[in-house]
This record gives sequence, structure tokens and C-alpha cells, in this order.
Amino acid sequence: QVVKRAYHEKVINHYESPRNVGSLNKNDPNVGTGLVGAPACGDVMKLQIMVDDEGIIKDVKFKTFGCGSAIASSSFVTEHIKGLSLEQAGQVKNTEIAKELSLPPVKLHCSMLAEDAIRAAIRDYKTKRSKLTATGPIPE
Ligand code: FES
Ligand code: FES
Repeated sequence: QVVKRAYHEKVINHYESPRNVGSLNKNDPNVGTGLVGAPACGDVMKLQIMVDDEGIIKDVKFKTFGCGSAIASSSFVTEHIKGLSLEQAGQVKNTEIAKELSLPPVKLHCSMLAEDAIRAAIRDYKTKRSKLTATGPIPE
């Protein structure tokens, strides 16, 4: 083969047919929204999770204004964290994402964006829930 493939097929696949693109209602009390940017390049990623009463992630959606690797990373994580608990999802590391997609070193920050976005979405969800509990009806 003469042409050296710079990217792994998996990246190309997630980039060409990204999974779970879209938005969830950010005002829904079961939805957490993470919006993060990469200082290295200015790309932006929005990732939203819908969490059930058992703390399991039931749905995930993303929108990424960024490079192919950032799109592939976000698409990959949406599939990866669906069905996980908040705790499990919070432990997903960008190095895992990068390894799974065989990202080259210069593209590591793109997968970092995905890790940051998951964390931010979980934080937003938890803050929202604690506010709800704080202002919710006082039990008799
Ligand atoms: Fe991020 Fe070009 S620097 S897409
Ligand atoms: Fe910046 Fe990929 S080049 S997120």
C-alpha cells in the first residue's frame, strides 16, 4: 500500500457516521449538560447525559464543533458510557479513548475534550439534583 493511512479506521468510521449526535432538553431534571473547550485549538464539545433514578446513564447526545478526532472521540464516548453508572462514567480516561481510536499523540487533546465533557455533564447533573432536593417540598 502506497498511501500511508494517518488515521485508524475506527476514527474514520466514527467521524463519517457519528453516533448520538443531537441535543437533550437541558432543562429536564434528569439531564446533565457538559460544555467544554480545548484551549489548544478552540474547539468546543457539548455532551449531555440522561440519568435514571438508579443513577444509570440512559441516553447520551453530543454536538462537537471541532476536528475529526474530537468528533470521533465524542461519538465513541456516547456509545461507551451509555448504560454505565455515573461513577463508572466519571472514571473514563482520555487515554482509553485515544487508545481505542488509535489517535496520534498530537490529537490527544481531542480525546481530553471528551473526558472533560463527560465530567462536566456529570457535575452539571449532580448540581442540578442537589438544587432540586434543596428547594424541593419539605417532607412532613
Ligand atoms: Fe481544532 Fe483545527 S484546531 S479543528
Ligand atoms: Fe482540537 Fe481536535 S484539534 S479538538
